[in-house]
Amino acid sequence: MTPEPAHALHERIVRLAALPRGGHGLDLGCGPGPTLAAWSATDPSAHLIGLDYSTRALERAAAALAGHAGPLNLRTADLAEPLPLLDAAVDALVSFNLIECLTDPLKLITDACRVMRSGGRAVLGHTDFDALVFAGAEPALDRKIVHAFADLAEPWIGRASEGRAGRNLPGLVAASPLLTESVVVHTDYATSLTGRAAHRVENVVSGLASAIGHGRSAVSAEELAAWHTGLVKADDESRFFFLETAILVVAVKA
Ligand SMILES: C[S@@+](CC[C@H](N)C(=O)[O-])C[C@H]1O[C@@H](n2cnc3c(N)ncnc32)[C@H](O)[C@@H]1O
Repeated sequence: MTPEPAHALHERIVRLAALPRGGHGLDLGCGPGPTLAAWSATDPSAHLIGLDYSTRALERAAAALAGHAGPLNLRTADLAEPLPLLDAAVDALVSFNLIECLTDPLKLITDACRVMRSGGRAVLGHTDFDALVFAGAEPALDRKIVHAFADLAEPWIGRASEGRAGRNLPGLVAASPLLTESVVVHTDYATSLTGRAAHRVENVVSGLASAIGHGRSAVSAEELAAWHTGLVKADDESRFFFLETAILVVAVKA
């Protein structure tokens, strides 16, 4: 049993976006550039634009795209503000795991529609953190931990994150000027506590440990430790399982 590699998700996003060869592709909240890198691998001549407010993330994106042959425009921008792009400037648009960070995501999607050319495709995707699946820990404790993580008030977001952003994304796009073409569900699984599963477990443990330290967590340090021990034991006994679901909405500009 070999799970799909982590980059398969980003390759899928890029395939769904169907950027015409050499066209302008925009990634909103590009982070360290996994989707832009997949775009570059598909079309080295593409004109790629990545926007993010983290200069550290943009530096990592620049390193990941050092070999890109076509034009590359990585810019700092606060995506809660109007996009720093002209009308109809892009042929395809992608955005993954950004929406939960915004207080008014509909405003961004509406402005994203403005910068797309007519007929261009957008792929907006989000992990549904309230639907993370782990096998190993005691069930009631596991539910408590997953819900606490999904409802976590991330200091870098400045408020409780929207842990159900994945399942709410189709409704959000339906309320926007974009026309939904399809909804694609992408799953990643693991049967051992390595790779993507280990990364997500580390996210859960570090996020909740920090919240516990600041006195704003729904779980205790003992519960978090018991959950983690349960997963490690399950992994040792070949009972571990992990499943993560991303919802991808493919939409067009009329
Ligand atoms: C979870 S990361 C996802 C990054 C990337 N799309 C990926 O798939 O790995 C969310 C990104 O959104 C960026 N971000 C969050 N809020 C933002 C805002 N208001 N303006 C610009 N970027 C923002 C963060 O800096 C971070 O790089």
